[in-house]
Parts: sequence; C-alpha cells; structure tokens
Amino acid sequence: MFHRNGPTLRELAEQALTSVERGYDLLAPKFDHTPFRTPDALLKATFDLVGPPGSVDRALDVCCGTGAAMRALRPLCRERVVGVDLSQGMLDEAQRRLADAPGDAALEFQRADALTLTFDAEFDLVTSFGAFGHIQEEDEPRLVQGIARALRPGGRFVFVTGHPPSRLRLGYWLAQGFNAAMRVRNALWKPPFVMYYLTFLVPRARALLETEGLTVEVHDGVLPAPFTPLSVVIATKR
Ligand SMILES: C[S@@+](CC[C@H](N)C(=O)[O-])C[C@H]1O[C@@H](n2cnc3c(N)ncnc32)[C@H](O)[C@@H]1O
Repeated sequence: MFHRNGPTLRELAEQALTSVERGYDLLAPKFDHTPFRTPDALLKATFDLVGPPGSVDRALDVCCGTGAAMRALRPLCRERVVGVDLSQGMLDEAQRRLADAPGDAALEFQRADALTLTFDAEFDLVTSFGAFGHIQEEDEPRLVQGIARALRPGGRFVFVTGHPPSRLRLGYWLAQGFNAAMRVRNALWKPPFVMYYLTFLVPRARALLETEGLTVEVHDGVLPAPFTPLSVVIATKR
C-alpha cells in the first residue's frame, strides 16, 4: 500500500482486527516500509537537542518497534541502549536490523508492556516515538510513572508530540472520526486494537510529567518539514 515491499491494504486490515501485540507481530517484517516507522530526519533533529555522541551513559527506548530510535541512540550512548516492546516480532526485527548499527554501546531487546515497566533509576535518557496512540488515556499516568521511575535524578524523557489542533481544521475532525470508529470497533470486536489520534498532547503530557516531579521544556519549530508543527518535549527528573 505505501511501498512495493510494504503491507497490502488487506494485510493492514487483518492486522487491525487482531490485538496490538499480534498486529505488530504480523506487520514486523514490512513495518519499515510503512509511514508508521519514525523517520530518521525527525530522530536526528530530536537527538541534536540531547547532546553530542558519547554524552549519555544509558538510554531506554519505550515501544522501540523495529529499532529506529535505538539506531540513532547508540552513538550517543557509552554503555547500554535498551529497547522494550510488546511485540516479539518487532523486537526480532529490531535485533536483525541493528546488527550493523554504528556505536559501541550494548544493545538489549526486552519484551515488556510499557505500562508495567520495572526499571529503577537506571537510565539517563528515556525516549518513545510513534506509540502514544496505543496507550489509552486512563493508562497514561501509569506509563509516565514507569518512565519517571526508570530515570536517574537529572535524567531526561525526550519525545515528540503536538499541541492541540484547532477545531476549525479538517485534520481535527478526521482524527475524531477515526477515534470514534475505533471505539465502535473495540466495543464490537475482541481483542481490542488500541490506536487513537491526538493523545498525550503537550498540555496533558506536561501535567502528567509535572505530577511525577519532572521539569518540562517544550521546543517548538525545531523539527524539519513536514514535522515542523510538532514539538520536542524534554522532561527532566529533579
Ligand atoms: C507505530 S510503532 C512505533 C515503533 C517505533 N517506536 C518507531 O517509531 O518506529 C508502535 C510500537 O509500539 C508497540 N507498543 C504498542 N503498545 C505497547 C505497549 N503497551 N507496550 C510496549 N509496546 C507497545 C508496538 O508493538 C509497536 O512496535
């Protein structure tokens, strides 16, 4: 559908009728040929704000998928880059794709639910890209608590999100229409497929992060087109 090596519309529909975990297991071999994989240009602009190569000891990428961010994180890190994801298929693909990733930090791939992270003050940097739509609003506090716990004092949680869009824009109503259709699908069909748009936007993310004792900086206008409307958020644990 998106690329000659990417998934067909039928394959995407089949994946959306299973759970998130099984859906990504099925999509994993073709995931990097979809627009759902975070683009390298966005990752580079984000990590340019984090620091120079070798400036971080340990990083954790939550919902790492096929390892797009882990590849970019490895040269920044001296010791470890850990990726966690619910889908073993995505983790296997990440491990395969990162075999030639530049850098010396150890790479680790762990199957885990982002809502039940058990790391304790282990990381200088936690990142997450392209996955907040898979977290239900009522579960966002648990996600943020696990990430805050995983950071050392002074450690940073870095991610990209948007400001709430105007209700006068077509995109707002398309997103609301998609979300409504997904709620109907999940009411009628088990297992649920959790994927919603316009979640974890700047005001909500800021409130949840500040509740967990993080100081939040929002960087606007730092990403290249077509991502310029999005913001890079850097939340630092005190
Ligand atoms: C759109 S992909 C993004 C992958 C990668 N971060 C990227 O930007 O290319 C979303 C990923 O989140 C993972 N995921 C969804 N819900 C999760 C959860 N509760 N815990 C861990 N991983 C989850 C999926 O398995 C999938 O690999």
